[in-house]
Amino acid sequence: MSSGDHLIIFDTTLRDGEQSPGASMTREEKVRIARALERLRVDIIEAGFPAASRGDFESVRAVAETIRDSRVCGLARANEADIDRAGEAVAPAAAGRIHTFIATSPVHMEKKLQLTPDQVVERAVAAVSRARNLCDDVEFSPEDAGRSEPDFLCRIIEAAIDAGATTINIPDTVGYNLPEQFAGLIKDLLQRIPNAHRAVWSAHCHNDLGLAVANSLAAFGEGVRQIECTINGLGERAGNAALEEIVMAVRTRQDEFPCDTRIEAKELLPTSRLVANITGFQVQPNKAIVGVNAFAHESGIHQDGVLKHRETYEIMRAEDVGWGTNRMVLGKHSGRNAFRARCEELGIRFDSAGQLNEAFQRFKELADKKHEIFDEDLQALATEAAVAL
Ligand code: KIV
Ligand code: ZN
Repeated sequence: MSSGDHLIIFDTTLRDGEQSPGASMTREEKVRIARALERLRVDIIEAGFPAASRGDFESVRAVAETIRDSRVCGLARANEADIDRAGEAVAPAAAGRIHTFIATSPVHMEKKLQLTPDQVVERAVAAVSRARNLCDDVEFSPEDAGRSEPDFLCRIIEAAIDAGATTINIPDTVGYNLPEQFAGLIKDLLQRIPNAHRAVWSAHCHNDLGLAVANSLAAFGEGVRQIECTINGLGERAGNAALEEIVMAVRTRQDEFPCDTRIEAKELLPTSRLVANITGFQVQPNKAIVGVNAFAHESGIHQDGVLKHRETYEIMRAEDVGWGTNRMVLGKHSGRNAFRARCEELGIRFDSAGQLNEAFQRFKELADKKHEIFDEDLQALATEAAVAL
């Protein structure tokens, strides 16, 4: 089964993102975020884990009742009660999905589940079959696939597809893999599993080593057609792959990838801000795409370059991802061109080159004392320079 002609974006901000300690959201907040994700044109919204609590069940159901243009998914462990609860929660959706998972790594099977590999396969098959009776769209994840035996993964995935799984998701649950390794695992599984072509393949990467986006993109290169990610990279521990980074990497480097996403990129910044405000997890200033400095230039060399031609130091347009424009920050590294350009924007005119020089000199002295020079500072500087000459 193919995804058609685009990379499917599966957003799990409301499920894995919410598992970030301190990020829990109310039903109303989840619905607001889900609406923003729908505007962003996310293909699938994982709205929560219905068996986790009554509140989570109600949130998933409310999202399923509200959203019409994205598929709504509920997570379930591989047991009957979880699957039935997830099925009930997503039933009102225009398009629903049940996502069931069970751990497959030796350490998880032995120490956490205390099940033999045979028992794990049995549970996976029973869970997928039960889910397929409730929903025609079922995703199966072998949890901790990144640390599982490839032979065992082949066995359980083949059985899950035979049982009716329509999407196979490969999680690097603890963010342990390196990009070539994760890509190699995907390639190996796709080659060795005889019925692999009957499912859409997906990657779900965590960021414990800061490699979630790199690993997801490496998997895309090897044939996955769905990437699971979250707004601002929110998620357990160090988080999940950041949706905005995946989307803009694929769009900016289309030459390197087989297809694009359907994401409405202008909605990236508003959605990022909404998630940050609701969860209280503020975005670091140097965060790619949505950090306040992502399109800001401070050094004179860079400002001069961008003023002459933006592509000298910009690989994307700020406007394309929701910013009003790029930003020239005036500080001690800034040069005369950026200083003059900002003054002109503010309507400050210099009567002579001498006056500009004097004002620029004063600006440099002030910049040594302050982190950032604001518009009011420039007005004051210009007046002082005019008086001084
Ligand atoms: O990280 C993980 O393994 C998960 C699964 C439930 C897909 O979030
Ligand atoms: Zn996860």
